[in-house]
Amino acid sequence: MSVEETLRLDGRTALVTGASRGIGRQAALTLAAAGASVVLAARSKEELAEVAAAARRAGAPDAIVAVTDVLDEEAVEAAVAAAVEGTGRLDVVVNVAGGQGFTAYVADTRTDGWDKVLGLNLRSVFVGCKAAMGHLPPGGSIVNVASIAGFTASPGLAAYGAAKAGVIALTRTLAVEAAPLGVRVNCLAPGWVRTELTRRMWSDPETSRALVAQVPLGRWADVEELAGPLLLLASDAGSYITGATLVVDGGLLA
Ligand SMILES: NC(=O)c1ccc[n+]([C@@H]2O[C@H](COP(=O)([O-])OP(=O)(O)OC[C@H]3O[C@@H](n4cnc5c(N)ncnc54)[C@H](OP(=O)(O)O)[C@@H]3O)[C@@H](O)[C@H]2O)c1
Repeated sequence: MSVEETLRLDGRTALVTGASRGIGRQAALTLAAAGASVVLAARSKEELAEVAAAARRAGAPDAIVAVTDVLDEEAVEAAVAAAVEGTGRLDVVVNVAGGQGFTAYVADTRTDGWDKVLGLNLRSVFVGCKAAMGHLPPGGSIVNVASIAGFTASPGLAAYGAAKAGVIALTRTLAVEAAPLGVRVNCLAPGWVRTELTRRMWSDPETSRALVAQVPLGRWADVEELAGPLLLLASDAGSYITGATLVVDGGLLA
């Protein structure tokens, strides 16, 4: 089989959380273009309908919208069921939903704020992985979206960084537990990507300049630049990669 063929996902089903915009939307369109049926999970129904239409145009044989709050375990289980019942299978899960929530130093962080950020960025990934595990066949793949904040100090974003470090640790352990089943589990850890999440930073010239000054490639990433790394982890092209965290950060951590 050629390398190009190993990157195809024809006949497979992929569930993407956080699919309504940004990195998750791009992930869904990338998997759709590779031939997968996609199940799109997030809270915003109208945005998901737009992504579903774009996924069908990109080549997805089916694009199912599953309105889901990842804080709600039953809703995540229902999204997995929608994939299995709607397409007869589930091969790839990409846990993208997340966000920074707020900026505060540790000393000023409210405990309920801490819990919310951990819930959105770490518990949600645990719940997504747990709901999917019983359904993924040999050759199945989970990709969890972490962040460079899981590796470095992130002043003002301690809860977010701790959650993302937790996602990396969860991924490693699950990779070992799932390996006997032939299921691979990996992380994608982006650096600074131009999305709604980071709009405040890239739309302010001074803040943006200060941030990209730390990036050896000297610029923000566009979401399209995560497509190749994601597809590598999701497809058979990455068949010997498990427990890994693929950092896509323009050299920031180098
Ligand atoms: N942008 C960056 O520079 C960057 C860097 C490293 C890591 N990341 C990570 O990449 C992921 C996506 O970030 P992004 O930049 O694409 O952010 P974004 O544009 O703000 O998108 C966030 C996505 O998460 C979904 N989401 C948020 N809360 C949710 C909930 N409770 N239930 C279901 N879905 C929820 C949103 O959908 P709804 O609002 O429709 O629910 C949306 O689809 C996050 O995990 C983020 O931490 C981003």
